[in-house]
Amino acid sequence: MSRRKKLDTRDARHDAAFRRAREGGFAARAVFKLEELDKRFRLLQPGRKVLDLGCWPGSWMQYTAERVGPAGLVVGIDLRAVELALPTWVHPRVGDAEGLDAAALRDEFGPFDTVLSDMAPHTTGDRNSDQYRSEELCARALTIAQVVLRPGGHFAAKVFQGGGFAALLVRMRAQFAEVKAVHTEATRAGSREQYLLGRGHKPGRSDPS
Ligand SMILES: C[S@@+](CC[C@H](N)C(=O)[O-])C[C@H]1O[C@@H](n2cnc3c(N)ncnc32)[C@H](O)[C@@H]1O
Repeated sequence: MSRRKKLDTRDARHDAAFRRAREGGFAARAVFKLEELDKRFRLLQPGRKVLDLGCWPGSWMQYTAERVGPAGLVVGIDLRAVELALPTWVHPRVGDAEGLDAAALRDEFGPFDTVLSDMAPHTTGDRNSDQYRSEELCARALTIAQVVLRPGGHFAAKVFQGGGFAALLVRMRAQFAEVKAVHTEATRAGSREQYLLGRGHKPGRSDPS
C-alpha cells in the first residue's frame, strides 16, 4: 500500500471513530482506548473510586462514570477545565499533576481503587523530547498512584515509548503484582503510544529509580 493510501485509510478510520464517539455522546474518541483496556484488563467495576489524570475534554470520565455508577466516584485532574455536564459522582478539577498533593487527595476521597492517566505533553515536534516528557508524566502518575491507591488497586497510563521505558517497567514491577505494556486497537499504526497496565498494587514498595 502506498504511503498516501495508508494515510487516507488511517484518516478514514479516525474520522469514523470520531463520529462514533460523538454519536455516543462522548467528548473524544480516546474513549475507545479506555473501553478496550477496561474490557481486556477489567479495570473498572460498579462502586469503584477512580482517579483520572489528564481528564480533559472528559471522555474517560464519561465512560468511567457509567462503569462505576452512582455508588462509585470519579476524580479528574487536568491543566484545562472540563466543560461537560457530568453526573454528581464525578469531580473534575483544574490542576497540574506535577504539583499535585497526592496525600491530600487520598485524605479527601479515601484510597482509590484505580488510577488512570491519559496525560500527554504538548508536542514540540522533537520526538526525543516529546517521548521524554511523556515518560516523565507517566512516572509522575506512578508516584501519585503509589500514594493514593489501595492495596490490590489497578493502574493504566499512556506513555510514548522512548529511552526511559525500561526504567518505567522496573518501577511498575516494583509497584504491581502483574504488569503489561499494550498497544490499543484505537492507537494509530506506527505510533510509539503504549499503555502501561498494573494490577494488584503493592503498597509501601519504594521507588527503585
Ligand atoms: C489526550 S488528552 C486526555 C484525553 C482524555 N483522556 C479524554 O478522554 O477526554 C491529554 C491531557 O493531558 C493533560 N495534561 C498534560 N500534562 C498534564 C499535567 N501535568 N497535569 C494534568 N494534566 C496534564 C492535557 O492538558 C490534556 O488535556
